[in-house]
Amino acid sequence: METTRRTGSRRSVLAVPGSSPKMLEKAKGLAADAIFMDLEDSVAPLAKADARKNVVSALIEGGYGDKILTVRVNDWTTQWTYTDVIEVVEGAGSLLDCIMLPKVQTPEQVVALDLLLTQLEMAHGLPLGRIGIEAQIENALGLTNVNAIAAASPRLETVIFGPADFMASINMKSLVVGEQPQGYDVGDAYHYILMSILMAARANNKMAVDGPYLAIRDIDGFRRVASRSAALGFDGKWVLHPDQIAEANEVFAPRQDDYDHAELILDAYNHYTSAAGGSRGAVMLGDEMIDEASRKMALVISSKGRAAGLVRTSTFQIPG
Ligand code: GLV
Ligand code: MG
Repeated sequence: METTRRTGSRRSVLAVPGSSPKMLEKAKGLAADAIFMDLEDSVAPLAKADARKNVVSALIEGGYGDKILTVRVNDWTTQWTYTDVIEVVEGAGSLLDCIMLPKVQTPEQVVALDLLLTQLEMAHGLPLGRIGIEAQIENALGLTNVNAIAAASPRLETVIFGPADFMASINMKSLVVGEQPQGYDVGDAYHYILMSILMAARANNKMAVDGPYLAIRDIDGFRRVASRSAALGFDGKWVLHPDQIAEANEVFAPRQDDYDHAELILDAYNHYTSAAGGSRGAVMLGDEMIDEASRKMALVISSKGRAAGLVRTSTFQIPG
């Protein structure tokens, strides 16, 4: 399968209802890394058919710069999924990067979408395998199958946590999406879910994306919750409002001093392991001992920083 897929950062993933041409238009000028045009839960059943047309028109009209462009279809338990996929790919398949599949419960559901996409690509002369898949984990069954889901198709690019549906699925006693359920005072009620998604994503070399924070006026709350998944290693988070975008872009990029330090470790380790630097494997950098594992950690921070456009503000001086 050909994989000339466009991949990119997903620090901020903007949700845009496909039923709103105005919001589809407005999204063009916003600084999100990625946007997804929604045909699922932000679109009422009676508005789904028009939303498909809006999304196709928006993709054809373009103007979204280099943002990753995704369309979220309805899940396989509805009557809409196949028409969503067919209309969007027939209408604008060469202009979109991914299809997002919500409420994924089994790997077979990813395979079914993969097969349908392959047929559409063949029928319409599109490059085979180029359209990626993003899988939302939104219920208990999906989470118990998340490893197999993450491994289900080479098209799969991201595994996404859907907290609102998930909370409903497990009967969590709370209506406040993203915040800890009242009464649970011994840790983070989402830790297991987030870690399971992250492990499945990383084990399969995929991205992991955190879902929405619904209290859109509470920017401090957004930052606090986003910082948790960012700290664990998630690549980004959904944003529902323009005010959340800059926060997500900042929280999911490394801090400047961490980025500088990572670049320093890479340069220093490169020097010390070379013949000129003494072919050493473990050395002191300031007060810190660095080795091959430090290099790997530094590489993560440095790649995230470079992808976020950070510029280093210090350089490594060869001693002596
Ligand atoms: C997103 O789709 C969610 O259910 O949180
Ligand atoms: Mg959902």
